Amino acid sequence: MKLWGGRFSEDTNQLVLQYTSSIGFDVRLLPYDIRGSIAHARMLATSGIITPEESRSIIDGLEGILRDYEAGQVEFRLDDEDVHMNVERILTERIGEVAGKLHTARSRNDQVALDMHMWARDAAKALIDGVRRLQHALVEAAEAHIDVIVPGFTHLQRAQPILLAHHFLAYVWMLIRDERRLRGVLDEIDHMPLGAAALAGTTFPISRETVAEELGFSRLYENSLDAVSDRDYLLGLLFACATIMTHLSRLCEELVLWSSEEFGWIELSDAYATGSSIMPQKKNPDVPELVRGKTGRVYGHIISLFTVLKGLPLAYNKDLQEDKEGVFDAVDTVVPALELLAGTIQTMRVKRDRLSRAFASDFSNATDLADYLVRRGLPFREAHAVVGHLVSDAIGKGTNLAGLELAEMQARCPLIQEDVYEVLPERAVIEARASRGGTAPSAVRLQLALVKEHCGMS
Ligand code: ARG
Repeated sequence: MKLWGGRFSEDTNQLVLQYTSSIGFDVRLLPYDIRGSIAHARMLATSGIITPEESRSIIDGLEGILRDYEAGQVEFRLDDEDVHMNVERILTERIGEVAGKLHTARSRNDQVALDMHMWARDAAKALIDGVRRLQHALVEAAEAHIDVIVPGFTHLQRAQPILLAHHFLAYVWMLIRDERRLRGVLDEIDHMPLGAAALAGTTFPISRETVAEELGFSRLYENSLDAVSDRDYLLGLLFACATIMTHLSRLCEELVLWSSEEFGWIELSDAYATGSSIMPQKKNPDVPELVRGKTGRVYGHIISLFTVLKGLPLAYNKDLQEDKEGVFDAVDTVVPALELLAGTIQTMRVKRDRLSRAFASDFSNATDLADYLVRRGLPFREAHAVVGHLVSDAIGKGTNLAGLELAEMQARCPLIQEDVYEVLPERAVIEARASRGGTAPSAVRLQLALVKEHCGMS
C-alpha cells in the first residue's frame, strides 16, 4: 500500500504513476534527504516529540540506507513516487514501524524544499570552484603571453592592436563577476525551510533553529507559505548559470575563430580536439563548439522555471516538481564546461610566429596617426579626415601607412614629420595606450596584479 493510500480504494493508473513519479531524476537528492531527515529525527528527540531510542533507531537506519546507496545497493520503486517516499519505505522495511515517526511535524513540501536548498548550496560551490579554475587558467595564459600582440576588433574588423593578455583578462573580469553572483546566490540559499510542514507550520513544539544549525544554515524562512513555495534561489542559480554560459560562449566563439586557418592564432592540443571521419587533415574545436551550442538549453531552463512559477497560487503545487530537471541539467552543463575550457586554455598553443606577422599589411595604427596630428595641433576631426585620405592612398599603392613616403604623407598634411614612423609600429601603438584599463604593457601589468588579488592568486 502507498504511504498515502489510506483514503484510496483503487490502484493508481500505471500511466499516472509514471507521469507523476520523480524518482528517475530526484534520486540524486538522496544524500541531502537523508542528512535532512537525520537532523529532523535528532531534533524530534531533543524536543521531546519522539524518544531518544526511536530517534537512534531512525538515524541508524537512515545512515545504513545512505551507505548502501553509495555502494549502489538500494533499489528504488516507481510506485513510491519520489526519493522521499522511497527512503521512507526502505527505512520501514529495515527498522519497522518506528520509521513512521520520522515524518512527524514534517511534510514532503518542506522536506523537498530543504533538499533542494542543500543541493543548490553544493551546486553553487561546485560552480564557484569551476569559475575559479577557469579564472586561473586565463590569468596564467595572460602571464605566459604578456608580450604577444594581436589585432583587436570592432565589428570583427581590425580596429587597434591589443595585448593578447589584455584580451584574456577581459574574460577573467567576467568570471570575477560570475563568482560574485554565485556568492550572492549562496547567501540567498542560506535560509532553512524545514518546519513549514505542509504550508502552515506544525502543532508540535519543534526547534527549527536546531535543525538549521545542524545543517549549516544561518537563517530561517520566517513564513511557512514562503518556505514551501519559494524557488527564487533556483532562478538565481539559473541566472548565474546562464550568465556564465554567455561568457563561455563568447570565449568559445573566439577559440573557434582563432583556431581556424584564416586566423591561425592558436592550435588546440590534440587532447582537446577531435577529428573528422572523412577528412584526414581535420582537427576540430568540438569542445568550444559544444559549449557554445549548449548555452541555449541553459537559457531555456531559466525561462521554463519562470513559466512554472508565474501563475502558481500559494503554497505547494505539483508543478513545483518541475523545478528540478532544468536546474540539474543547467549545473551539469556548466560545471564540466568550465573544467573543459580551463583545460583547453591551459593546453592550447599560441602561434607567436604567425601573430608577429599579423600587422604587415593592416591599418590598425590609423588612430595613432590621427592622434599624432592632434598632438601637432590639428583638431581631431580634421586629423581623422587626413588619415582617411592617407589610408586610401596606401590602399591604392598596395601598401600600408608605414609604406608611404614622407613626401606622400606631407602632400596630405604638412604637419607630418620624419618622427611619424616612430608612432606607427604595433609595439609603439600598444605602448601608447597607457591609460588606466588600457592595453599598454604597463597598464596590463597593473591590471594583472588587481585580477590576481580578486582571484586569490597573489
Ligand atoms: N516530488 C515532489 C516534488 O519534487 C515532492 C513534494 C511532493 N509533495 C506533495 N504534496 N505531493 O515537488
